[in-house]
Amino acid sequence: MTSPVNIISSVAASPSSLTSSSIHDHIRILRRKDSAALDYIRQPKILHPIENEDLRLLILENISQEAVRAFRAQGYHVDHYTKAFSEEELLEKIGQYHAIGIRSKTKITKRVLSAASKLLVIGCFCIGTNQVDLKAASQAGIPVFNSPFSNSRSVAELVMSELVALSRQYFERAWEMRNGVWNKQSKNCWELRGKTLGIVGYGHIGSQLSVLAEAFGMRVLFYDVINLMPLGSARQVESLESLLSQSDFVTLHIPELPETINMISKKELSQMKKGAYLINNARGRVVDIPALVDALKSKHLAGAAIDVFPFEPAANGDAFDDQLNSWSSQLRSIPNVILTPHIGGSTEEAQRMIGEEVSQAVTRYLNYGSTLSAVNFPEVDLRAITNAEGNQVRICHVHKNQPGVLRQVNDALSPYNVEKQYSDSKGEIAYLLADIADVSPADFSRLRERISGTDANIITRFLA
Ligand SMILES: NC(=O)c1ccc[n+]([C@@H]2O[C@H](COP(=O)([O-])OP(=O)(O)OC[C@H]3O[C@@H](n4cnc5c(N)ncnc54)[C@H](O)[C@@H]3O)[C@@H](O)[C@H]2O)c1
Repeated sequence: MTSPVNIISSVAASPSSLTSSSIHDHIRILRRKDSAALDYIRQPKILHPIENEDLRLLILENISQEAVRAFRAQGYHVDHYTKAFSEEELLEKIGQYHAIGIRSKTKITKRVLSAASKLLVIGCFCIGTNQVDLKAASQAGIPVFNSPFSNSRSVAELVMSELVALSRQYFERAWEMRNGVWNKQSKNCWELRGKTLGIVGYGHIGSQLSVLAEAFGMRVLFYDVINLMPLGSARQVESLESLLSQSDFVTLHIPELPETINMISKKELSQMKKGAYLINNARGRVVDIPALVDALKSKHLAGAAIDVFPFEPAANGDAFDDQLNSWSSQLRSIPNVILTPHIGGSTEEAQRMIGEEVSQAVTRYLNYGSTLSAVNFPEVDLRAITNAEGNQVRICHVHKNQPGVLRQVNDALSPYNVEKQYSDSKGEIAYLLADIADVSPADFSRLRERISGTDANIITRFLA
């Protein structure tokens, strides 16, 4: 049998005689001659709901055109609006749709969900999912997808710029120039090369930052609650204190959890080297800001960059003042402190990646039943059905997590060959995917009746 490698090498053997179109013709001929050669590249079969109703998507809040195009390319009917919908508008329209895409302004409440009789999936084209009643969504059998990590690189790059800005004090110098003051300085201005960066939280952002910082010639230490494989020459340290006492720059990349609130307070600031810098692009509550103000005023720290705050203004143009956070004016008045309005992840690239990631997750659920990365649902996926296995049907069964369900479902499936099956649960919800072979159209309705008719059934779909 000719392997694909051989096909490619036989094409490559006489490159000068082949134009680009004749190369493609040549490959087509070889494929026809020996189509089995390509069988090992398992072509996934594109599945569709067996029910013939077209899938309709409601896309709100000016979600990226790429995402809309990707949905249309799947053959879905897409209604696309730039604005957010109010609850009343949603109540009027949601019943027609199988999927909805939103950002943070459209609220998917329990009331909206109870009117969403056909809704299968919610895509949040943003980082957070607070705008969705996640519990009501899972009870209704609706997975919710978001994109928590698409802006990691953007945050890591902002931190790199802050390291340079703080160590060269150029934020201060640029501010003076804007006010017409020439103040050329080199005292206490440093290169990053050879300095130590301490990263607290070596997850998506922390680990990317580690690579960028090493490219600048920095020595990288990190502290994390779990043991992680260091990238490059970075080194994990055993305690926060060890990291704080060795680092010239400390940058925080941890989630907000009960144990991380005020994780950097008076004691931890005093453990930092004199003249060190603190950067917080993680969450507002992980730093005790009054303690930071004291450490900066006493010149124990040489500067800080803060992008996130315990209370943040609701909209652009709103004041960032002492009414919002009692220490705002003090922090604003300290030299070599860079304050930014939570822009760590705000780039065009991150927006585009959010569009790609969420549209792919929604499509994978609609076409293949995969709930990988859903925030409110058990994560279940199955190896693809290949084109060669075209007679298989995938059953996607969302049900209440209660005893006896699998026995009932497997009883219904027992006349068929179950090629593969996977089931998992999360809280009150469980989800089963099963691929079964040789099911006739008459069998579909019988199977549907039996599985959808069980007490625990929430939503059952058949894909083929
Ligand atoms: N400024 C912004 O615009 C912006 C953008 C994106 C993310 N963020 C924030 O950045 C933070 C990090 O995001 P990520 O995507 O890298 O998260 P992540 O979940 O990938 O990584 C977090 C890491 O912190 C570690 N960790 C948890 N608790 C810890 C503790 N007590 N001590 C030490 N390590 C601990 C975890 O083990 C994990 O490795 C999050 O708080 C996120 O909300 C901010």
